[in-house]
Amino acid sequence: MLVSAKEMLTKAKQGKYAVGQFNINNLEWTKAILLTAQECNSPVILGVSEGAGKYMCGYKTIVGMVNGMINELGITVPVALHLDHGSYEACYKCIDAGFSSIMFDGSHYPIEENVAKTTELVKVCAERGMSLEAEVGSIGGEEDGVIGAGECADPDECKMIADLGVTMLAAGIGNIHGKYPANWKGLSFETLAAVQEKTGEMPLVLHGGTGIPEDMIKKAISLGVAKINVNTECQLSFAAATRKYIEEGKDLSGKGFDPRKLLAPGVEAIKATVKEKMELFGSVNKA
Ligand code: 13P
Repeated sequence: MLVSAKEMLTKAKQGKYAVGQFNINNLEWTKAILLTAQECNSPVILGVSEGAGKYMCGYKTIVGMVNGMINELGITVPVALHLDHGSYEACYKCIDAGFSSIMFDGSHYPIEENVAKTTELVKVCAERGMSLEAEVGSIGGEEDGVIGAGECADPDECKMIADLGVTMLAAGIGNIHGKYPANWKGLSFETLAAVQEKTGEMPLVLHGGTGIPEDMIKKAISLGVAKINVNTECQLSFAAATRKYIEEGKDLSGKGFDPRKLLAPGVEAIKATVKEKMELFGSVNKA
C-alpha cells in the first residue's frame, strides 16, 4: 500500500538520515527501485515528473502499475508515490489519481500567490492523508524543459511557507538538477542553516542529488535535510549499461534484441545506484 511521506520523513529527521526520492520513467526503473528498497529494508519515495507522467500514459496508469508491483513483488517497506515539481493543475490530477504525495512547485509565482495556492493544497492533502512538498527559491538547471537560475531561498519566505503546514520544504541552496558545472560554488550551508533555524523541525528536501560530493550530502543531512532527490544518476547508469549491452552485440538471433534482455543490464545498474545512495543517505534498515 502506498503511504504518505510524512512518517518516514519525521523518522528520518529524528534519526539524522535522509530518505531517497528516485524518479521513475518506466516499468523497469520502478521495479528496480522497489526491489532495491525492499532488499535494503529502506523507505523510498518514487518521484514522477509531469513529463514522465505523460510518457507513462498518465497518473492513473502509474498508480495502477506501482500498486500492482507492490502487491506482486511483495514489497513491505514504506513507499510514497510523489509528484515531482507539479504545477497546480497536475497536483489535482495526482490527488484524483491516487498518488500519496505531491510537490507543488509554486516557486515561480509571486510569494503571495505561492502562499494562497499552497494553503489550499495543504487543506486538500490533510483531508486525504497525503504529504505535500513546497518549494522556495528555485533549483538550478533544467527539468522537463524548465530552466531555473538556482537562486538561494529567502529564510523568511521559507518560514512563511513552512507555517502553512506543508510536510516538507525544498529550499534552493545553490543545488542544480543534472550535472554540476566545473565552476559550481557548492551548496550554501549558510542558507541551509538559516532556513532550518527559521523552520524548526520541518524536514528539508535537497533536489539535484546527482553529483553532490559525499561530504556535502552528509553535512546537508546533519543540518536538517531529510529527503534527497536523485534522477540523473539513474539515467546515466541505465544508459551506460544499455549502451554496453548493445555494443557487445548480443543480437545473435538475427531478430533484433529481446527487449527483456536488452533492458536487464540497465535494471541491474539502477539497482546498484539506488543501493549506493540508500547507504550514503543512511536509510538502510530504517523501514
Ligand atoms: P538530479 O537529476 O540532479 O539527480 O535531480 C533530481 C531531482 O531533483 C528531481 O526533482
